[in-house]
Amino acid sequence: MSKKILITGGAGFIGSHVVRLFVNTYPEYQIYNLDALTYAGNLENLTDIENASNYTFLKGDITDESYINDLFEKNQFDGVIHLAAESHVDRSITDPLAFAKTNILGTMILLNAFKNLWQDQWQDKLFYHVSTDEVYGTLGETGLFTETTSYDPNSPYSASKASSDHFVRAYGETYGMPYVISNCSNNYGANQFPEKLIPLFINNIINNKALPVYGDGKYTRDWLYVVDHAIAIDLVFHKGENEETYNIGGFNEWQNIDLIKLLCVQMDEKLGRGKGTSEQLITYVKDRPGHDLRYAIDASKINQELGWKPSVTFEQGLSKTIDWYLSNTVWMERIVSGAYEDYYKKQYK
Ligand code: NAD
Ligand code: TYD
Repeated sequence: MSKKILITGGAGFIGSHVVRLFVNTYPEYQIYNLDALTYAGNLENLTDIENASNYTFLKGDITDESYINDLFEKNQFDGVIHLAAESHVDRSITDPLAFAKTNILGTMILLNAFKNLWQDQWQDKLFYHVSTDEVYGTLGETGLFTETTSYDPNSPYSASKASSDHFVRAYGETYGMPYVISNCSNNYGANQFPEKLIPLFINNIINNKALPVYGDGKYTRDWLYVVDHAIAIDLVFHKGENEETYNIGGFNEWQNIDLIKLLCVQMDEKLGRGKGTSEQLITYVKDRPGHDLRYAIDASKINQELGWKPSVTFEQGLSKTIDWYLSNTVWMERIVSGAYEDYYKKQYK
């Protein structure tokens, strides 16, 4: 069936993988990628599909209400897959208001435009909100986040995402808007902006720069290969139950320091450097304020109900990821300049 689907944030890390998957898998759909091209948006992530006949890029800001209302009226989107967001915890600590604006207000503006467009003619319409496991706050040494874990966000980033999740539910309850939400763990893979742990450390190892480990490095995250997240989003969009939440995770918990050591080993091998070379770059630095100790996802619902599971092991995914960054040094060099340099100096002074 032909559909018009708006994907927001499609020039970013996860969004670009979702856009590519949808453009290539569903030639009968018209895919619109709406992105403001903030520091995190990069159209070079999508050069392979930019001329596809079922793909349109729209440069625009989700917080611009009149632009969004006009866009929805003009294009009559059947579905929205909403990924546009400010996404980096450290930036949310220095500039929380930017997170409230994009993540809360921007989401509400989209919800409102979708509601005004379809009112109560909701058949075959869907608002899919892509969210994070960080809304659940932090775990201790044991336990897993399930879909019924109470929200308990600790950072301005996770609080803004939690708030946006609540608004999506509220639009479902109040206006009957069909929606699904997914809450995913930490992603890694090609095209991730080098402010996040894995691409930052890959780039620093390549350039023999210090690897800044926050606190004692004993924080734990569950890591998922980004292509597997995109596949899960496709499944949830097409087969997920209305008004349901799906937790998506890699069944793959790592303490930061162990992950960093594995990364150092793989990098030494691939760069032909002696064993232990990259580990010498590890430098313990001041901890992140309010640093969540542990995230871990129980992904059994999406596994059992939709048959999804990760397709690669962490070692395989990490190896593919490093290979991608090593063969795309120009992509990295173009990012690591100008405004990003200023941010890096401020954050790691
Ligand atoms: P990202 O920062 O790489 O990309 C965000 C994209 O949104 C960029 O292209 C940016 O230009 C765009 N954007 C930002 N503000 C905008 C605005 N006002 N209007 C339009 N576009 C705007 O983020 P990501 O890591 O790809 O994350 C995408 C989504 O997935 C986010 O909603 C995030 O909360 C969620 N998520 C991320 C992870 C992760 O590990 N990265 C895990 C779970 C959930
Ligand atoms: P990050 O990639 O920023 O994702 P999130 O904070 O959303 O989980 O960080 C992953 C983990 O790595 C987190 O515990 C913070 C830690 N970290 C460092 O130790 N040093 C760094 O320079 C960065 C960016 C992160």
